[in-house]
This record gives sequence, C-alpha cells and structure tokens, in this order.
Amino acid sequence: MSKNKPPMTGFRRAPLKKTIGALLLASLSLTAGACRQDMHDQPKLKTYREGADRVPPEGAVARGTLAVSAPVAEAGAAKSEFPFAITAEVLARGENRFNINCAPCHSKLGDGNGMIVQRGFKRPPSYHEERLRNSPASYFYDVMTNGFGAMASYSDKLSVEDRWKVAAYIRVLQVSHNAKIEDVPAAERAKLEAADAAAPQGGQTQ
Ligand code: HEC
Repeated sequence: MSKNKPPMTGFRRAPLKKTIGALLLASLSLTAGACRQDMHDQPKLKTYREGADRVPPEGAVARGTLAVSAPVAEAGAAKSEFPFAITAEVLARGENRFNINCAPCHSKLGDGNGMIVQRGFKRPPSYHEERLRNSPASYFYDVMTNGFGAMASYSDKLSVEDRWKVAAYIRVLQVSHNAKIEDVPAAERAKLEAADAAAPQGGQTQ
C-alpha cells in the first residue's frame, strides 16, 4: 500500500491543513477588525482639518505679527516720555491695568509691598526711590516688555498701548508720593493749609 503513495503526500497534507487554519484565522481576525474602533481612528477634530480652526481669543497676536505703530516704537527708541497725549482716560486705563497686573507685588502705592511680596516673593524696589523716579517712562515700558530679573515679562498680558498707559500711571504714583506743597496752585494751597490747621492732631493722613 504504502509503496503506491507518492512519497511527498504525508508532507503535503500537513502544510495544507496549516494553510487552511491560517486562512480561517485571518478571516476571523478580519471580521473582528471590522467591528473594532481603534484609538487612532476615533471621531475627533484634527489640527488644520476643516472645522478644526479655533478662533483665537480677542486681542491675540500671532508671533511675528505685532504691529507696533511708528510713534510708539519711536518713543521707545528715543526715550522721550510718551507716544500719545496723557488724558484722564489714559490714566484711568493705566490705573486699572496697574492694579490688576502690578499691584499684587508692587502694591497699589508702588512701594513694593504687595500681597505676593508679603507672602514671600522677592521684594521689588519702590518706584519712589531716586533711581526709578529719574528713569524715563520708556524704562518702565521696557521692564514690562522684557521682564526684569525675577519679574516676568508682561508683553503677553498688556498691549503695547496699555504698557505705556501703565507707565503713565506709575509716573502719577511717583509724583503723588513726592509732591511738595509748592506743587499745589496758590489758591488751592491756602485751602489745604486751612484744613491742615483745623485738623485735630494726628488726624492728618499720609
Ligand atoms: C509677581 C510679582 C511682580 C509683579 C506682578 C510685577 N512685578 Fe515688577 N518687579 C518684581 C520684582 C521681584 C522686581 C525686582 C526684580 C529683581 O530685581 O530681580 C520687580 C522690578 C520692577 C521694576 C524695577 C526695575 C529696576 O530697575 O529695579 C519695575 C519698573 C517694575 N518691576 C514694574 C512692574 C510693572 C509695571 C508691573 C505690572 C505690569 C510689574 N512690575 C509687575 C515683581 C513683580
């Protein structure tokens, strides 16, 4: 019997079974694959795909696209005082931005004793010291733009114009802390002196 069998049949059979098994397995896993949802194929928005564009927040400036108006840039370079007229409105905006962004460390008075400093952050110098009183407004603009030592830059939080407005308000703080009675117009001075004389001792505020 065995001499009629071709010698290779025994060999052929085994691979044939294996092939069928492999095919079955493959088709099984293909059907399984059809009902599977891969992580890489989940419904989601992809960067730059249509409908995925995020609307940038108002006032956002992409890198390299900041348009600094010529007078603002020049004022910074020339170190003249301010690139625009200082009005009550400008100062109100400066005060508002200062109290939000700077006062936590520099204090509302600018003496460097803000709440974060009281909680242990490095103490900044007072704006009322001689050196900073004599610094040009552009110096404050520069510190806000570039940061200074332990202080971070505020160029991402304050627009160019707002930085100048904050600098203007710092000037106001400086003047208010170093004002002399001679700075008050004569007519107003008499009123102040009368009020001062009438005030009870120790009742004078600083
Ligand atoms: C988180 C605390 C913090 C905030 C907020 C902060 N500063 Fe400062 N600032 C500092 C510290 C600390 C220094 C001193 C840095 C140093 O010497 O390393 C400093 C220094 C300065 C100086 C003096 C630089 C010099 O020549 O000595 C100026 C001017 C200044 N800050 C302006 C501002 C303005 C304007 C803002 C708001 C837009 C602001 N800072 C917000 C902490 C702060």
